[in-house]
Amino acid sequence: MAKLWGGRFSAETDALMKQLNDSIRFDIRLWEADIAGSTAYARALARAGLITRREAGQLVKGLRAIRAEFAAGRFVVQPDDEDIHTAVERRLKEIVGDVAGKLHTGRSRNDQVATDMRLFCRDAMRTLRSDLCAVQSALLNQARAHVRTLMPGYTHVQRAQPITFAQWCLAYFWMLARDVDRFQDCARRTNVMPLGAGALAGNPFGIDRATLAQELGFVAVSQNSLDAVSDRDFVAELLFDCALLGVHLSRLAEDLILYSSAEFGFITFSDAYATGSSLMPQKKNPDAMELVRGKAGRLIGNLTAVLTMLKGLPMSYNKDMQEDKEPLFDSLDTLSLTLPVLAGALNTLCVNAERMRAALDPAMLATDVAEYLVRRGLPFREAHHLAGRAVALAESKGLRLDQLSEQEWRNLSEHFAADIQSVFDFARSVDLRDVVGGVSPRAVRAQLRQAAAWLRNVLRRSS
Ligand code: ARG
Repeated sequence: MAKLWGGRFSAETDALMKQLNDSIRFDIRLWEADIAGSTAYARALARAGLITRREAGQLVKGLRAIRAEFAAGRFVVQPDDEDIHTAVERRLKEIVGDVAGKLHTGRSRNDQVATDMRLFCRDAMRTLRSDLCAVQSALLNQARAHVRTLMPGYTHVQRAQPITFAQWCLAYFWMLARDVDRFQDCARRTNVMPLGAGALAGNPFGIDRATLAQELGFVAVSQNSLDAVSDRDFVAELLFDCALLGVHLSRLAEDLILYSSAEFGFITFSDAYATGSSLMPQKKNPDAMELVRGKAGRLIGNLTAVLTMLKGLPMSYNKDMQEDKEPLFDSLDTLSLTLPVLAGALNTLCVNAERMRAALDPAMLATDVAEYLVRRGLPFREAHHLAGRAVALAESKGLRLDQLSEQEWRNLSEHFAADIQSVFDFARSVDLRDVVGGVSPRAVRAQLRQAAAWLRNVLRRSS
């Protein structure tokens, strides 16, 4: 079949040039968006009186048949199908005849591809949000079960203060909540329709863009035709949101990898999410988490690729922009695999509460010792210093902090009394941190209610 743009050409395209130029290999994934856009556009053409109702009916029917072919996996790509737009148009002509040639009236592949991409991203963000919510829901369930499960909290990977496993789970819950928010925010800016911008200067046939937008579920139409065909900010934004999500997932994965090591032994992964070694029979490796961690690299890379491609592009459409697709698809594919695996791994991991508890060291209550003195009226700086001296003394004697004698405490300061022993209770330390957002079981239960309400709200809005 002749090329869509073949009119002014007399010589054949070079074979390798064609390979470089064709995008059908990857943009075939836009088929659903492309058919939806064309269906709405056929109706808009009829409304503008450019084609008859009957012709619009034929086009819509033909497009419906093509959709069925794609859905059934029966659509056959031909060697001359340059991209998804030409493939659909070529097939439409085979089905409905010459009237197919009227579909592209006033439209360019420039406003068409921008429209397809926005429709596609809009859908993709919906899937991402629901996959993310499944991970959050797994975190929430683990948190509910471990409001009183004590474990060491770390800064600098050094034992810092006692926390609970619930608090750890919820930390990641809120991190991911911001990701969901970001996708929602990105969806708002994505949901603007470029169709009607033509190649770059606008549609000359008086298409009613508002009705067209409504039909396609867009909340607004682009206000500038040049901007409409040259803007890929929504792709870059979506890729940034994916990259930052990837960074978050990578941090979560890293914690779990550490916690599943023999040295920590805090958690055990289900066999369903671990693999063995071909050499060492005893090994159980946290591959799922290592891959979640590793995938952050390509998510960041895909963002970098698109930002670099966009940088310095002159107004308006340039073929460079065809390079927005593979990075986008790759990031979406990466997440659509890693998120469900992560949710599964979180849902099935086993928490070894005794190991967590055993990793608590009374020295982690040194802050509580200082707080004991503060409650007796000492300025915190002085209290901090005295608690530090107690730690040094215990260390020099080869004792745990809670093994100092009453006399030894008294020698450090007259403010220490026999009741200093009551400080050496990890659960008490946690209970005392009872502010909003703190680790006390009461505060964490309130946090759990906030988290559950947040999740319900998102799920309700996206259903
Ligand atoms: N495959 C192209 C892309 O993804 C479609 C738009 C082509 N437009 C053009 N004037 N060649 O960007």
